[in-house]
Parts: sequence; C-alpha cells; structure tokens
Amino acid sequence: MLDNVRLFSQYYKTYGLSAFLYPDVVSNWILNKREAKKRPAFVKSRPNIIQIELTNVCNLCCKYCYRGRLDEFPGVKFGYMKEKDFKKIVSEIKTPVSIGFVGGGETMLHPQMFEFAKHISQIHKPSILSVTTNGTLLDESMALKLIDSNISKLYVTIDAASPETYIKSRGRDYFNKIIKGVQTLVELKKQKASKTPIIGLSFIILEENKHEILDFLKLAISLKVDFIGTLRLPHPVSPEGAFMNKSSLDDIYKKLIEARKYLESNNFWVKESIMYNPEQIFDFQNRKGYFCSTPWEFPQVTWEGELTPCCVIPFSEIYSFGNIIKSSFGEVWNSAKAVDFRRKIKSATPPINWCKKCMGC
Ligand SMILES: C[S@@+](CC[C@H](N)C(=O)[O-])C[C@H]1O[C@@H](n2cnc3c(N)ncnc32)[C@H](O)[C@@H]1O
Ligand code: SF4
Ligand code: SF4
Repeated sequence: MLDNVRLFSQYYKTYGLSAFLYPDVVSNWILNKREAKKRPAFVKSRPNIIQIELTNVCNLCCKYCYRGRLDEFPGVKFGYMKEKDFKKIVSEIKTPVSIGFVGGGETMLHPQMFEFAKHISQIHKPSILSVTTNGTLLDESMALKLIDSNISKLYVTIDAASPETYIKSRGRDYFNKIIKGVQTLVELKKQKASKTPIIGLSFIILEENKHEILDFLKLAISLKVDFIGTLRLPHPVSPEGAFMNKSSLDDIYKKLIEARKYLESNNFWVKESIMYNPEQIFDFQNRKGYFCSTPWEFPQVTWEGELTPCCVIPFSEIYSFGNIIKSSFGEVWNSAKAVDFRRKIKSATPPINWCKKCMGC
C-alpha cells in the first residue's frame, strides 16, 4: 500500500495532472514499476515505455553503432514502417506513458514521421513522445514542423565538439550542418515562444572524442539546449565495446571530474549519473550492479512490427517476442519466447550472448 502511494506521488511529480485524468494509465504505470522490480516471467502490466523504430535505414555509419554488427545477421532486411502497420501497432500498445521514435536507423528519414506523431496524439492522449535523431536533416523547415508537432523531446546525437572529431566518430562531415540546425530550432522556439520540443544533445564517449567531453558540455550550454540526452560509454556489445582498457577509462575518469567541476560552476544540471559518479565507468566492463528490467518496462518495436526485448536488440534476427502486426500485443508480450527470455535473464545462463556483456539501453 505504502509503495503504491510512493509510486503515485512519483508519477504525479513527473507527469503532473495526468495522474488524475487517466487513472487506468497511472494504475498500469504503478503495476509495471512493481513488476519491473520483481521481474515475473509472465507480466500482467503493459510496458510504461515503448520505443518504435520508424526505419532501420541510416545515412551515417557511426563506428560504435550496433548496426556495425549486422554482418553477423546476413538476413536483416531494411525498410520503412508502413502507415497501416504503424496504426495497427499504435492500436495494440494501449497507452504507454512514453513513446520514443528510435531504433536501429535514422528516424527523420521516415517521410511520414510527423503524420505518425500526430496519430499518436489522437490515440494516446497522455503519452509523451520523443524522437532520437542524428540531426543531419534538421533544417529550418524541419524545425518549424517540430515546433508545430506534438513531439515533446528531441534527442540529437552529436558525439563531438568539432567537425574533425565528428568525422572520426560518425563517419561523415555533418557537424556544422547539425549545429546550425540546432541553433535554428532554439531560435525559432524562442521567436514562437514554444516550450517544445525540449532539446537534449547526446555524446557517446569514444577513444576518438574523449578529449572533447568538456568542450561538448560547453557547446551544449552555448547553444542553449535544455539538457544532455546521453553521456555514456558505448555499449559493451557494440563494435567499439572493446576499446575500454584501463588506461582509457582512467583518462575518461579524469575528464569527467574536470567536466563536473565546470558544470557545477556554471549551474548546468546534467541528468546523467556518470557525470556525478564517474567511478561508475569502471563497473561497465564487469557489469557490476547491473540489473536488467528492460524486457518488463522498455521494449522495442521494429519497423516490421517485431517486439524485441530492448533497444540493445533492435533486430528481430537476434531475438523477438513475436510480431504485433500479425498478433495482438497481449499475445506477444507474454508469448512463450517472451516468458522464456524473462525467465532466463534472471538465471545464470542468459537468453542470448549479448545479455552477458550488457549494461542496458
Ligand atoms: C541507434 S541510434 C538511432 C537514432 C539516430 N540515428 C541517432 O544516431 O541518434 C539511437 C541512440 O543509440 C546510440 N547508440 C548507438 N549505438 C550505440 C552503442 N553501441 N552504445 C551506446 N549507444 C549507442 C546512438 O548514439 C543514439 O544516441
Ligand atoms: S548511431 Fe544512429 S546515426 Fe549512427 S549509424 Fe547508428 S543509427 Fe545511424
Ligand atoms: S541485451 Fe541488455 S538490455 Fe537487452 S535484455 Fe539483454 S541484458 Fe537487458
């Protein structure tokens, strides 16, 4: 009972009045939080967060991205989610509190991204919609559409503070275009007195860009973005996961301490625990303290409608609970494959090799 009251007040603090307007959403949110902690194999609640991949096609070739391992899965198909499939998926997922348009490709390449976003606002009233993008297509026209849309959060992955470093981590020369796009969006939001989308910049720490962590934070502050989306090491399952030797980590640790002092003196808050507990980076390789609850609260839907356990597994060729275009969400969410995956993830033998090295989405 006490736990329910605590969770209700947590929901209210984060999502405000919708706590009173949508009781069924709130009660599912509470149940999902509780189940994510207990991790039963069969789940009664629906996930609070769902990531939907509009496409797995991409215009960049980032050296650390999971896509770099696709050679291991020769059958992978590439494409764009169809409107009728999107509508079926949206009708199936009921009302998650957050929906993220993100997956194993570049979200903004989907020509119907804004139509799809609008559809979400018509079907799932309280859902908060975010888009994760590499920002390469962010120009004035895109910025205006974003401001007019119901997309409330935009994560722009930059991984650099200079064009030279950008090319090394992301493979192509888009840095200045992306910075201009972000400036345009910030400026237009101001002109139109629009609060949304709130903008977060993301940075995956690599050998090639670790010297720019501090400059990246300075850049974010100078661009007047709202927050830092992600600041973390590449996932250990990624092609770059192996770079993290002791001396790299020691070096990153020192840079994070320096960056923290800078943030404190500038009163800029970053919602990233490694900024405030940089020693966590040393836990990354040995998975110390990692507890995976993602297949309970945070699954991924691929462009073909496959429900995968998490965003680290955005390809159904690696693992899928089932297809929610062909079946109902309820059937897939508790399919034999889903139940087996959840049971095994708690055991000494994880369901797939990727989980052995994982540190979460
Ligand atoms: C797969 S991308 C898709 C969206 C878009 N293309 C982008 O780059 O933002 C989503 C997020 O995952 C991050 N990502 C990709 N591969 C990763 C990895 N191996 N480890 C950690 N984050 C990764 C990207 O930096 C990006 O912020
Ligand atoms: S991180 Fe994003 S932009 Fe880079 S290759 Fe992966 S999907 Fe494409
Ligand atoms: S790959 Fe990682 S996040 Fe995904 S289910 Fe396995 S342990 Fe969890």
